[in-house]
Amino acid sequence: MSFRIYKAKDYNDLSRKAANIISAQVIMKPNCVLGLATGSTPIGAYRQLVEWYNKGDLDFSEVTTVNLDEYRGLPRDNEQSYYYFMNENLFSKTNIDKSRTFLPDGMEEDPDKACREYNQIIHSLGGVDLQLLGLGHNGHIGFNEPGIAFETETHCVNLTERTIKANMRFFLSEKDVPRQAYTMGIKTIMSAHKILVVVSGEDKAPILREAFFGSVTPAVPASILQLHGDVTVVADEAALSACEGLV
Ligand code: GLP
Repeated sequence: MSFRIYKAKDYNDLSRKAANIISAQVIMKPNCVLGLATGSTPIGAYRQLVEWYNKGDLDFSEVTTVNLDEYRGLPRDNEQSYYYFMNENLFSKTNIDKSRTFLPDGMEEDPDKACREYNQIIHSLGGVDLQLLGLGHNGHIGFNEPGIAFETETHCVNLTERTIKANMRFFLSEKDVPRQAYTMGIKTIMSAHKILVVVSGEDKAPILREAFFGSVTPAVPASILQLHGDVTVVADEAALSACEGLV
């Protein structure tokens, strides 16, 4: 059982530490399956990975990726889709084979089909070697909102008001934010061999403490990670500011 928290000085330090862990995975197992995340927190880590790739220190040619989630109803070429995000931040800037990059199909209108197909992809890959996660203000991981049953696989979710508001900054207005998304479930996330969580900023301090030092409850989806055998949290000082004496 291994649960580590690395304290980073600031966002740059956090990004470098997270990128180091991801690159170690790629170097140790070049044909690994990386579980990837969107949101603003992992952007710095992706930037660092691209920099190392450009220097010739990293090779993604055999890597397969599966992303946590995708908005329902957004096509891949919509700038707010998670596919677009991944392409902009990582896929188009490295030698990743795009035919081996997977996200739920946001344009599949039948939610059962979209979720079933994504589960099949993940299962056929034999599971995820390293899953990267951000942490939502309400403790969500992927788009698993509070109250979600821990045993779910990929499913369609109604986003909470809080998540819609938090994600509004990426859209023209609140009404443009999709109300639903397809997301890997908690069961899918928990079956990854290793998990890396990145958390930045003072606004995440209360939820970081609750998720990793509070009780394990569906009310805080990320708290289930306390029961996973191999979790590394990389957080900056601001995000750890409510954890004094604990870390
Ligand atoms: C979104 C994503 C999550 C992400 C969360 C936090 O809701 N679906 O996967 O972890 O936002 O994002 P940020 O890192 O921008 O705070």
